Amino acid sequence: MDVVSRKTITVTVNGDSYEREVDARRLLIHFLRDDLDLTGSHIGCDTGNCGACSIVVDGVLVKSCMMLAIQADGATIETVEGMARDGELTTLQQSFSDHHALQCGYCTPGMLMSATALLRTNSHPSEDEIRKAIQGNICRCTGYINIVEAIKAAAG
Ligand code: FES
Ligand code: FES
Repeated sequence: MDVVSRKTITVTVNGDSYEREVDARRLLIHFLRDDLDLTGSHIGCDTGNCGACSIVVDGVLVKSCMMLAIQADGATIETVEGMARDGELTTLQQSFSDHHALQCGYCTPGMLMSATALLRTNSHPSEDEIRKAIQGNICRCTGYINIVEAIKAAAG
């Protein structure tokens, strides 16, 4: 039986195309952080619980510690690095800043990506819908209230 241990993959991340050879067991979060040097997405658990590694792959919110890099071959990926352009924060990022929706900031990249995915499909979410959308993202600092407020304000 042939066992594939390495594979060359091509991905588009925040509009840039990358081709890399990766170990078949390499997690997507490690590929992004260590191979592409895109360290905005964080690792809080490696077990799919904290949401710090949340990104958007082909339009779908995923926890990148739960996906292999080779599964992303050919995919279009969005990470937090793709949000601000030329130093200009997006409305959502500015809202997080304005509403003090972060303290240590460790959860923030994942929160922003979850909120981005939510607002694309629901431009005026209720508080319940916002809380449901970020239920896979753990924040150990803020108590969530300001995060919910920030998302609500960005939607408005
Ligand atoms: S690092 Fe992926 S969910 Fe925690
Ligand atoms: S701001 Fe510290 S974990 Fe959320």
